[in-house]
Amino acid sequence: MSERLQGKISLVTGAARGIGRATALRLASEGSPVVVNDIDAEGAEAVAVEIEKAGGRALALPADVTDLAQLESLFAAAQAQCGPLDVLVNNAGGDTPTAMADCGPERYAAVLALNLHAVWNCCQAALRQMAPRRCGAIVSISSGAGLGASEGLAAYGAAKAGVISLMRNIAQEYGPLGIRANSISPGPIASPGMLTWLDTLPGGAESWGAHIPTRRLGEPEEIANAVLFLASDEASYVNGAMLPVDGGVSGVLAAPPV
Ligand SMILES: NC(=O)c1ccc[n+]([C@@H]2O[C@H](COP(=O)([O-])OP(=O)(O)OC[C@H]3O[C@@H](n4cnc5c(N)ncnc54)[C@H](O)[C@@H]3O)[C@@H](O)[C@H]2O)c1
Repeated sequence: MSERLQGKISLVTGAARGIGRATALRLASEGSPVVVNDIDAEGAEAVAVEIEKAGGRALALPADVTDLAQLESLFAAAQAQCGPLDVLVNNAGGDTPTAMADCGPERYAAVLALNLHAVWNCCQAALRQMAPRRCGAIVSISSGAGLGASEGLAAYGAAKAGVISLMRNIAQEYGPLGIRANSISPGPIASPGMLTWLDTLPGGAESWGAHIPTRRLGEPEEIANAVLFLASDEASYVNGAMLPVDGGVSGVLAAPPV
């Protein structure tokens, strides 16, 4: 085990699988005691056990982050059992493409609740623990869909663009208190959620990978490595930034093949 986050308490939302799980394991491998949150209680417990077996420290705290009462209990329990948070990773999120015309008010509200409002509420809860100690790092998982249009992802894209903006605003307001807030915009990552959706498309994961400059999907661990950097003191002057981790997708201009 190395020590880039030695003794720093982290909380990762949506950490039972995919990018959240990889992030929880990575932060723990660098000495951070990790609060493993997920709406899936069994999955969160399994990741906490995996961390402990690897020699790290973890506590599973299941909660639905779209429910404000559950979210507040989650942050209170984390503080009571582990101490005030040093690192918050807003990872819980996701959506499946739906044309805007078919996205009624209930679905729109649910997409915003998970992908933006929960991030806002988690940040407020974490900042209440970080501000008095004048230190802390927040890393929020946005998306390439927050940078550019993607078919069927209008509500999700709007929420993820909001996350990028929220991190910049936290950086400005809380930077003077020694707190940093940054976002990561992943490209297509081979998480369980993404793979389930890609399986429904003609050509599946392989045909998606072929359109990426790096010619493959990313792995959850490749996002986890970027989260670790932004959470650690190595990123001490990185604040309000949006880091694309996408195999080059966001740098490509759409154009007909030559
Ligand atoms: N995989 C990708 O290609 C990709 C690309 C861009 C952005 N992202 C973003 O990365 C993050 C993680 O995505 P993933 O692909 O690993 O997802 P995933 O679907 O594989 O895993 C998401 C996890 O979040 C949990 N979760 C869902 N709702 C929750 C809630 N209300 N409260 C607590 N936990 C909840 C789920 O139970 C699950 O364990 C999401 O914010 C997603 O929008 C993913």
